[in-house]
Amino acid sequence: MCGIVGYIGNQDSKEILLKGLEKLEYRGYDSAGIAVRGNEQIRVFKEKGRIADLRAIVDESVSANTGIGHTRWATHGVPSQTNAHPHQSASGRFTLVHNGVIENYSILKREYLQGTEFISETDTEVIVQMIEKFANEGMETEEAFRQTLTLLKGSYALALLDEQAADMIFVAKNKSPLLVGVGADFNVVASDAMAMLQVTNQYVELMDKEMVFVTKEQVTIKTLEGTVVERKPYTAELDASDIEKGTYPHYMLKETDEQPLVIRKIIQKYQDEQGNLAIDQEIVDAVNGSDRIYIVACGTSYHAGLVGKQLIEKMAGIPVEVHVASEFGYNLPLLPEKPLFIFISQSGETADSRAVLVAVKELGHKALTITNVPGSTLSREADYTLLLHAGPEIAVASTKAYTAQIAVLSILADVVAKTRGRADNLNLVKELGIVANAMEVLCDSKEEMDYIAREYLSFTRNCFFIGRGMDFYVGLEGALKLKEISYIQAEGFAGGELKHGTIALIEEGTPVIALATQENVNLSIRGNVKEVAARGANPCIISMKGLDMEEDRFVIPAVHELLTPLVSVVPMQLIAYYAALHRDCDVDKPRNLAKSVTVE
Ligand code: F6R
Repeated sequence: MCGIVGYIGNQDSKEILLKGLEKLEYRGYDSAGIAVRGNEQIRVFKEKGRIADLRAIVDESVSANTGIGHTRWATHGVPSQTNAHPHQSASGRFTLVHNGVIENYSILKREYLQGTEFISETDTEVIVQMIEKFANEGMETEEAFRQTLTLLKGSYALALLDEQAADMIFVAKNKSPLLVGVGADFNVVASDAMAMLQVTNQYVELMDKEMVFVTKEQVTIKTLEGTVVERKPYTAELDASDIEKGTYPHYMLKETDEQPLVIRKIIQKYQDEQGNLAIDQEIVDAVNGSDRIYIVACGTSYHAGLVGKQLIEKMAGIPVEVHVASEFGYNLPLLPEKPLFIFISQSGETADSRAVLVAVKELGHKALTITNVPGSTLSREADYTLLLHAGPEIAVASTKAYTAQIAVLSILADVVAKTRGRADNLNLVKELGIVANAMEVLCDSKEEMDYIAREYLSFTRNCFFIGRGMDFYVGLEGALKLKEISYIQAEGFAGGELKHGTIALIEEGTPVIALATQENVNLSIRGNVKEVAARGANPCIISMKGLDMEEDRFVIPAVHELLTPLVSVVPMQLIAYYAALHRDCDVDKPRNLAKSVTVE
């Protein structure tokens, strides 16, 4: 949700900032802006729309070797040029970009800024006006900045320019992600390392409630109390090619295709020297020591959690509950004596999940984060981390992170199961290898998926996904994929639940995608297909080899019954992709969404 960048050095900052914002566009893309300064005063360029729209209005002739930039996902105030960042104080002395939400902005406005004229509807403008107010009262900029930060409630990643301090960017962070990148004669600021990989792979992590004073030679970190903090940079293990589309038309298609590779990489990363699957002993002990596991996640990661519950319960024999983070936060169930919390999050930054993590840590419980981003907030703040090793996921619609999450959960379940004398006859390395091969076959079936999308979804206003057991969970994910990128009203239902109400929505021609990969419910789900077909639906059965029947539209290669979601989701992803293409939708950047949801 919103991305910020900053640059201070000797080069022209405009292009560096714009390129950085392009890499951060996945965090929000309804408006964008930059503020730059060379020897002259600060110049602000901002525009509603994408970075390309911003690029078109930036005055090339302005020379500038310092600057800050922002790409926005609107929270307070509609997407517009006025509400776009950067925001300036009344006199124009201070210029600010902000990612996060200031919860007490209206209180601050009332208490400190009576009489100040506000230009935008944003919470951010309050911050920059407060800094100016304190500076006008005689405080040095550092003190005005610090004083303002102590009054803010909520989340922020901030970068500030002061017209009277030409050689510095003032930076601060609380809850929202932010890094400072270091170079030979320059330094940068970015919401994530990908944005500034163009100039450096050396980054300094920032902690909550820290301020940073960035000049082109130096990075000085201080706590809000003024204590100087020494912290060494780390090397961001990212390959620039990981974040490029290459020859693909969309990141989503590239990331879908990467899934077999990711599964093979996960197997390799979680194997010990003997070739056995292995997980840190302390994580295995934590799982074994718990009497109930709570999986907490949002969206696609929540859907992976539903599959994870089945894997852990069936393989390791430990009871698991799965909760949507935004509900769990204020609806804590009665907890047993030794709960273990597992947070699943591709980004590791999702605010709803983080709120639960903070709450359960306060209660003294242990937490494990399963994430794609090492060093992310959820990873840092949990007791343990398991990495997905999926490589950067850029498309807003999650694909490879979902399958990576399930693969890592299956390895966790298997390793724990083996310590309990269970699942002895399951060779998971071999079974995941079969999955990777099956995924490859599916990724090669694009033409067929394109055809299905064209046939069933080109003109429909809605679509239902049905399945039983694991297939129900994959149906939920299939529906989410379809609605988020093609804007078709889509819902996933348990096959048996349809007749309890939803079947009323079936009309002549309504597409119903039915998954049939589970032997024990194969006949029941086919019964449900008959019920909807009898009411005019246009069913599309996707089954698994060995369970297939004549009427099936597509048959996926057979894999172990516990691992079917890893393969059955691939047609769901591809069908959604092609449906979105046929409807001329922006596949990688669907409307109203952002990749990393850092507000609650
Ligand atoms: C959908 C999608 C979202 C995310 C959700 C959680 O394609 O990507 O539903 O899964 O916002 O994000 P993470 O996994 O980063 O916590």
